Amino acid sequence: MGKLDEKVAVITGSASGIGKEIAKTYAEAGAKVVIADFNEEAMNDTVDEFKSQGFAVHGVKVNVASNEEVENMIDVAIEAFGRVDILVNNAGVSDNMQAAENVTDDVWNRVMSINVDGVMYAMRKVIPHFKENGGGTIVNMASITGLTGGRGGLTYTAAKHAIVGMTKNVASHYGPENIRCNALAPAAVQSGFSAGMKDVDEFGMEASTRGVNLMPRAGTVEEIANIALFLASDDSSYINGVALAADAGWSAY
Ligand SMILES: NC(=O)c1ccc[n+]([C@@H]2O[C@H](COP(=O)([O-])OP(=O)(O)OC[C@H]3O[C@@H](n4cnc5c(N)ncnc54)[C@H](O)[C@@H]3O)[C@@H](O)[C@H]2O)c1
Repeated sequence: MGKLDEKVAVITGSASGIGKEIAKTYAEAGAKVVIADFNEEAMNDTVDEFKSQGFAVHGVKVNVASNEEVENMIDVAIEAFGRVDILVNNAGVSDNMQAAENVTDDVWNRVMSINVDGVMYAMRKVIPHFKENGGGTIVNMASITGLTGGRGGLTYTAAKHAIVGMTKNVASHYGPENIRCNALAPAAVQSGFSAGMKDVDEFGMEASTRGVNLMPRAGTVEEIANIALFLASDDSSYINGVALAADAGWSAY
């Protein structure tokens, strides 16, 4: 018996990086997975790869910054597999470490629309479906920047704090409906994330990494996916509304 047998999981940003590993881990645990990503080519490759491994998988192209596309993502998942039990709001982008005085409107708007609006759109759409089904589980990808003040740019930090707030709000309001909503807050994870940064703000980077030598080590995508499996499965059935730091103790200092 897998920990997610009979479950259907929608995972945003799952064509690569942490999201892809979460999708693989969920599929290995018995879930049917929906690979939802902006990058259509990578999404198709991931779907093909997982199908060749015998997993039940379906792909949908989505820009999570678009409410229409997010609603379509959930509709497509229900069409493909009949229901949704688990939503992982993983898609997210960086703000190139812009410190407050250097924030550009473009970066603010892009990061907020993907990292915050996208999470709200998906929860707003899936909660009525969860209620109809008698429950469901949401895992939101925050970051250690959502629990601390100075470890990222201003916009990214604000966005990840917003995710932590939304997580607690949904857990509190919908816990009685058998809906759990938790967040995962990793420090540095080896993925394509930092390679996606460009025009990095020199001061913001310097200030954000002042304490990085106190971080014992970076995490792996496998370590993060294992925690995401714990949060999605009944192993964490009594946990609701937490933002779990995954940072080898970095923020404990
Ligand atoms: N890597 C880290 O060090 C780290 C640390 C803490 C938190 N996180 C968070 O983890 C999550 C995943 O990061 P990652 O490291 O795997 O990054 P990544 O850049 O390797 O992968 C992100 C994936 O999301 C997709 N994506 C980007 N914008 C999208 C959009 N608008 N709509 C749909 N899909 C979109 C990309 O195509 C890509 O497949 C993010 O929310 C990130 O903020 C990452």
